[in-house]
Order: sequence, then structure tokens, then C-alpha cells
Amino acid sequence: MHTFTKIVFTLLSAAAIAGTAACTSASAETESSEMREIRSGEIWPDNNGVHINAHGGGILAYDNKYYWFGEHKSDSTSSALVGVKCYSSTNLADWTDCGTALEVVDEAGHDLERGCVLERPKVVYNPLTKKFVMWFHLELKGKGYSAARYGVATADKPEGPYTYLRSGRVLPGVRPAGMTAEAAARADSLAKADLGDWWTESWYKAVDDGYLNSRDLGTGQMARDQTVFVDPADGKAYHIFSSEDNLTLIIAGLSDDFTSHSGKYVRVAPAGHNEAPAIFRQGDTLWMITSGCTGWAPNKARMFSAKDIYGPWTQHENPCVGPNADLTFGGQSTYILTIPGTDKHIFMADIWRPEHPSDARYIWLPITWSKDGKPEVQWRDSWTLADLKNNI
Ligand code: GAL
Repeated sequence: MHTFTKIVFTLLSAAAIAGTAACTSASAETESSEMREIRSGEIWPDNNGVHINAHGGGILAYDNKYYWFGEHKSDSTSSALVGVKCYSSTNLADWTDCGTALEVVDEAGHDLERGCVLERPKVVYNPLTKKFVMWFHLELKGKGYSAARYGVATADKPEGPYTYLRSGRVLPGVRPAGMTAEAAARADSLAKADLGDWWTESWYKAVDDGYLNSRDLGTGQMARDQTVFVDPADGKAYHIFSSEDNLTLIIAGLSDDFTSHSGKYVRVAPAGHNEAPAIFRQGDTLWMITSGCTGWAPNKARMFSAKDIYGPWTQHENPCVGPNADLTFGGQSTYILTIPGTDKHIFMADIWRPEHPSDARYIWLPITWSKDGKPEVQWRDSWTLADLKNNI
């Protein structure tokens, strides 16, 4: 190696090691850094001064640190050219770039081939296996949004590298929990019938009765917009995703190691057209916020609650309040973070920029409570973690 090349190589290696170390070592951030402002919609520079590139993401709170995982987006396409990015922080305001947690692959025909669609990654920690488990929505390269698969990967360290396990549709051959033989027979006959035009009253009724669920029984259920939720009440994990051509949400239990489905699932709000699910627990109630289905364009958020994750789920009014609340302040939900050891929650959303995907922005707002005890998301130009801990 030439001396110059050697010096550059040594410097680069040192930087790479320093970069990794910054992700795992104790940070210089202090308690007072909880006074740092969180300003939704603005450019959020990381430790290198570069706007954070982690869209449709979620946060893992682990060992006194936050790890933010999200889609890396390039300047001109929303397809995955890099993979899932990871950033770490102790105060939710100062973020260190930890590199690419799950990389796309340069192999023709590979599920994760560069140019595939890899969206809405979420990571959870499994205490039994001590592995970090990532779930995401995967669309195969060149096939639009037709594959509608989940993907799963695991790692030994929060920031990765993640090893890809597999992708697929959900639970082929398995009916929703509690579906009677009579209801299954009806769904099957609807799936074979000519239902005529979509969006008619009878068509809605057929979707509600499970005709799309029956249609997809052989392949497994479609899995697009998604999140993974570990219930703080008992440590059990769930995969929550848009299914049935984005018409119906599914909540599916995960196995004890969190890497596969347990076999039990329920359909939520059939024909309700919900995407972008985000969920949290407050006391004995589970709250879920979703969006409607208008692609990258914002729409009005929806909210549901249940006492049991498998339902019944009750729909409520849009939780957003204030200017532009009917368009979720220009964003679309992606995750709700509960600050560990507290009952404080942060609503997280994306302001998409389809013309310039890497410039998409983030909305993070505290969840507060209305007089009648329901979650509210109020626009704030600026707030701090200290405000949230002090009840805003
Ligand atoms: C949105 C969805 C995004 C992405 C987009 C593609 O509705 O929430 O995750 O899939 O559509 O148009």
C-alpha cells in the first residue's frame, strides 16, 4: 500500500471505529440537554450536521439510550438504495449516526435487492434470546406494491448489523381468531362470487365479512404499513399491519422469540382503510392512532382504543387538535414512544416529500389528555423532554 493510501485508510478506519464507539459508549449529553428544543417540521441535523435520514421509523429504548431506526431515503427515489438507518441519543434531541443497521443487497433476485421498497422498520428487544428483532414492510424490486410482505431480521447489538431472516405474507391457511365455521364458509363463498363494483354498500359488507381474507388464505395475508408493539403489561409482542389491499388492519401475536407469528390474529376495522398504525398503553387501555390511505399526501388521523389487544376496538375522533389538525399537521403517523419508566408518550409522524424523499421531515409531539380522558396531539412549534416530564 502507498504511504498516502495507508494514511487515508488508517484515518478512515479510525473514523469508522470512532463512529461505532460513539453509538455504544456513554454519551457526553447531560441531564440539562433535556432542555433541548424539539421543533417538528424543521431540518434535524445529526452529529455530522446532516439531516437525519430515518423515515417511517420507530424508536427502541434500551439500556438508557434511544435508538431510532428508519428508512434511508435518497434524493430522488423512495426505493431502498441503502437500507435501514440507525441513530442513537440519550435525550431525543441530539442524535449520533450509527450507520446502516440493515443493508440492501447487490444480488439480483434477492428479497432485499437494492431498489426494493423497504418501509416502516421497527426494532424490539427480546429478553429471552437477547436479540434485537427488526420487522419491516418489504416490496420486491420492480414489482410495485404487489408483494405486500413483512420482513424480519435480527442482531446481537441494537445498532446492528442485522441479519436478514426472511420475508413473506402472514400465516397462510390460518383464519382470524374466533371466526366460526359458518363465517368462514360465507367468506369463502364471497371470495368466489362476482361482487361487482368496489365501494358499494354490498362490497363493504363483503370485505367486512372477510372475502379478501378468504381470497388471501392460500398465500397468507398481505402485510404493508406496519409496527411492532411489545405490551409493557406482559412483555408479549404483536405485529400490527395494513392488510386486505390496505382495507383492514391485522393484529397478529408474535412467538416468544419475536421472530415469527404465533398463529393468532384478529382483523380490526375491516374496510376502514387504515394505514400507518402506531400504538401505546396507558393503564388498562391500549390506544392506536392510524392514518387514512392517501399515499404520500397527508390526511386526517384516526384513533382506536381497546382493553384487550385482540379487541374489540372502538373508534374515536381524530386525536389531533389545532391548526391543520385535519391533515395531521401535514404528516402521517409512524410510531408512539413511551418514555421508559413514565406514562409519557410522544406521537411521531412523517411529513413526506415524494419529490425529494431525503428531505422529508419529522413531527414529534407530546400526547396530552382531553377532559374526557382521551389522548390528544396538539401542534407545538417547540417543546422539550423536560416539558414533557413536567406535564408540559
Ligand atoms: C403511504 C404509506 C407509506 C408508503 C406510501 C407509498 O400510504 O403509509 O409507508 O407506502 O404510501 O405511496
